[in-house]
Amino acid sequence: MQKYLINPNQKIAKINKDIYGTFSEHLGRCIYEGTFVGEDSPIPNVNGMRKDVVEALKEMGVPVLRWPGGCFADEYHWKDGIGPKENRKKMINTHWGGVVEDNSFGTHEYFELCRQLGCDAYVNGNVGSGTVQEMSEWVEYMTFDGTSPMADLRKANGSEKPWKLKYFGVGNESWGCGGNMMPHYYADEYRRYHVYVRDYDSNNRIYKIGCGPNAFDFEWTDEVMHYAGNKMQGISLHYYTVPGDWGHKGKATVFTDDEYYTTIRKAYKMEELVRRHTEVMNRHDPDKHCDLIVDEWGTWYDVEEGTNPGFLYQQSTMRDALVAGLTLNVFNKHCDRVRMANIAQTVNVLQSVILTDGEDMLLTPTYHVFKMYKDHMENTLLGSYITTDYLDERKETPVLTESASVNADGNIISTISNASLTEAAEIKCQIADFTVSSVTAEIITGDVRNHNTFDNKAVVKTAEFTDFTLTSDGFVANVPPCSVVKFIIK
Ligand code: AHR
Repeated sequence: MQKYLINPNQKIAKINKDIYGTFSEHLGRCIYEGTFVGEDSPIPNVNGMRKDVVEALKEMGVPVLRWPGGCFADEYHWKDGIGPKENRKKMINTHWGGVVEDNSFGTHEYFELCRQLGCDAYVNGNVGSGTVQEMSEWVEYMTFDGTSPMADLRKANGSEKPWKLKYFGVGNESWGCGGNMMPHYYADEYRRYHVYVRDYDSNNRIYKIGCGPNAFDFEWTDEVMHYAGNKMQGISLHYYTVPGDWGHKGKATVFTDDEYYTTIRKAYKMEELVRRHTEVMNRHDPDKHCDLIVDEWGTWYDVEEGTNPGFLYQQSTMRDALVAGLTLNVFNKHCDRVRMANIAQTVNVLQSVILTDGEDMLLTPTYHVFKMYKDHMENTLLGSYITTDYLDERKETPVLTESASVNADGNIISTISNASLTEAAEIKCQIADFTVSSVTAEIITGDVRNHNTFDNKAVVKTAEFTDFTLTSDGFVANVPPCSVVKFIIK
């Protein structure tokens, strides 16, 4: 029997809702077809946005949407995407599939999508191939409520009022596709560019995010924090779970049990990454003025056969549900530093929450995990601990992960993932100084290769979970192998 202790007296920090954010790039069918179909499309839409996708994302509770990239951001020139559609420039999307980008989805369409989703905006600016002037004018265009060349241009394009821009990223992967820079060079560039990301409106203080490291590049974090950390509110971290290597990543739906466990071990590296980058940040910023923003994370497999290799289209199985469940538990547990995270990506790209096929749409196992975990949003993280077996001899990857939070009504939300493919976990949960009156629970479980298809969209879905008994201070549950469970404890 594993012991699970929750301490409501230990209130750690707020779980910012933006930890449950997503990322949409001009890549493959994420924006075009997946989200935006245009007003003239036979696919039901509101102002060009697919109704079915918007409805599903609203129900999942997407709090913030990062756009327009990714690597695309550092080749994106925002003025190409405003004004009458017929006059917008057509360009080649050189990073992603070499297809024509007609710029029919631009700044106005992005804010319209955020409006329909009821989510906050996170726009990523172009440092790699853009200029300070271009970035500065974009911010003016989006946020200035007065008379100025850019505000007037926005009005002429149909938006009288500025938009609320919550987050702004100064470059993306500047160590790679965003300009191939060295950390000290990027830090200097950040210092220059960020000056012109102005707060035009005292009610719209833009939260500026500097480009952070790729995975285990602690030197990048160290140098950027040293030279520019006090000028940014957040620094990003990108980490993808690739079961094989970048040449042979592995297939999304066909994999061995060993490959599954490798995937889980690699996904759990997120814990080490967040912890160690936080340690580096603590040396420069012990008072935590700068947050860690994991604005790209998720699994990355070989593309589905017959699809454009540059479109990064992959299916999603119960394996991805486990990756999502454990990763979100890690973010919750580190919510004193991790303020936002954005899964890559929202629709039809990498570990998407939604897949589309023309007018058809399905929800992936990852979608169900996000929807299940949304009860943690804006809660207070509680101290908690679970005993567990490990997936490796060095005891680096636990079989069980958990996080627990308390909401405004005093109810406790606990989420648990069990990565074993064979063993159910008998868990005795005890909550300090808490009298339990009721527990309800939900589960996502099934064979690890199970996935939803356009012929059968409900192979993986959320179900009620009842295999537990109440005790005076908690419960005893039998959590099945390969599952993600949520308990609501009143
Ligand atoms: O999400 C796909 C790509 O991965 C992004 O464009 C880039 O930032 C990262 O390398």
